[in-house]
Amino acid sequence: MNISVIGGTGYVGLTVAVCLANKGHLVFCVGRNEEKVSKINRGVPIIYEENLEKLLKDALEKKKLVATTNMKDAVKKSDVSFICVGTQSMEDGRIDLRQVESVSVGMGQALREKESYHVVTVKSTVVPGTTEDFVIPILEKFSGKKAGVDFGVCMNPEFLREGRAIGDFLFPKDTGIVIGELDERSGSFLSEIFKEFDGEIFRTSLRCAEMIKYARNSYLAKDVSFANEIANICQKMGVDYLGVKKGMEMDVRIGKGRFLDAGVGFGGSCFPKDVRALVTKSAQVGVDPQMLEVTLKVNEEQPFVAVKLIKQVWGNLKGKKIAVLGTAFKPGTDDMREAPAIKVVNGLLAEGAEVWVYDPKALANAREIFGDTVFYGEKAEEALSEAEGCIIVTEWPEFAEANLYRAMKGKVIVDGRRVLDPAELPPGFRYHAVGFPRVVET
Ligand code: UDX
Repeated sequence: MNISVIGGTGYVGLTVAVCLANKGHLVFCVGRNEEKVSKINRGVPIIYEENLEKLLKDALEKKKLVATTNMKDAVKKSDVSFICVGTQSMEDGRIDLRQVESVSVGMGQALREKESYHVVTVKSTVVPGTTEDFVIPILEKFSGKKAGVDFGVCMNPEFLREGRAIGDFLFPKDTGIVIGELDERSGSFLSEIFKEFDGEIFRTSLRCAEMIKYARNSYLAKDVSFANEIANICQKMGVDYLGVKKGMEMDVRIGKGRFLDAGVGFGGSCFPKDVRALVTKSAQVGVDPQMLEVTLKVNEEQPFVAVKLIKQVWGNLKGKKIAVLGTAFKPGTDDMREAPAIKVVNGLLAEGAEVWVYDPKALANAREIFGDTVFYGEKAEEALSEAEGCIIVTEWPEFAEANLYRAMKGKVIVDGRRVLDPAELPPGFRYHAVGFPRVVET
């Protein structure tokens, strides 16, 4: 099938475009930025994701992917379009629909000049009702055509995780494939693309598909905040949270692989934004989103649990040299959007500490955010060399290596992600951790 991906130079768009081309479809990857488009056509991936570069080069070699700024041409030459533009958070928590709006206008204008049937598929994360009440009216106005008659409409939420996006898209066994459809014909048309994938297809209404995305992310975010709250209680009650987590997971009603790793909180471009958007939407429809609000409140405060733990050692952090290991919101990415490290670093600075930061991938983004308020280590050892204490904030594998901490000047470690086994530490260290009730003196 010929497919156009609008917002194809973005994180989700490029992943979708390259994967569908890899499946043998002819994909038009549409972007507004000339430079990004030409980079993609030269096989230069503009985001970092495992396997993306190889799959992009394959698709270009097989002439299965073309990046372009000409959306109208791409829509006219394709049967299905995926709208993958960003829907950022606005001050009041609502999502910003301006990109969705301008793309829908352009899509409508293209459909006006197109004879054959076409399915417009919203893949951007949009609150329930957006596709029906916002996108379809624009498409009909600018195409002069009727949705469900002249063209089809679907909503197909993505569940990609940063750092694993290619695998998540190509092998959707764990998440399944959700297709919201305006009508049976639209849904069947889109299912043709996904029937080759090893994942259950759930066809439902447009609104239900939109809500599934928010409910899933809010559910997972709620799990993380629940885990952090239980870990904080464990800390005060002489219980190791890791034992509690193991005991919980034994119960099949809870099960393994849940988002129950306690630490310094969740971040990234999705969880915080999506929970906030659902809070705002719920209030608009007259439902008091208590659990969602508490999920955000617990997450707001969790990074400071690690700051408090290290402050307890000296009672005061004025002039103390503290290293923060990991600034990316999670391992496997350079992304620092709403990263807990931002609060940890600012919390330490507010306490008067001198802060050193290190991250294997996100240091450039850290420089953007922290500027000259902190010092930067090009290697973990460098960030640790001056440090009297350190806080592990992102669970990069290298931070689980106990010998790394021999590079420290001081001996105080706060493990904000439970990556370290204190028994492996060299003698003379003080090990503290989130959800861990005691101090281990090695
Ligand atoms: C998430 C969803 O997983 C994905 O399906 C959706 O499409 C986009 O949002 P992502 O933002 O890449 O993906 O990150 P994810 O791996 O889900 O982690 C989210 C945050 O939760 C990270 O900050 C992570 O550190 C934190 N987390 C996750 C925990 O603190 N504990 C856990 O047990 C799991």
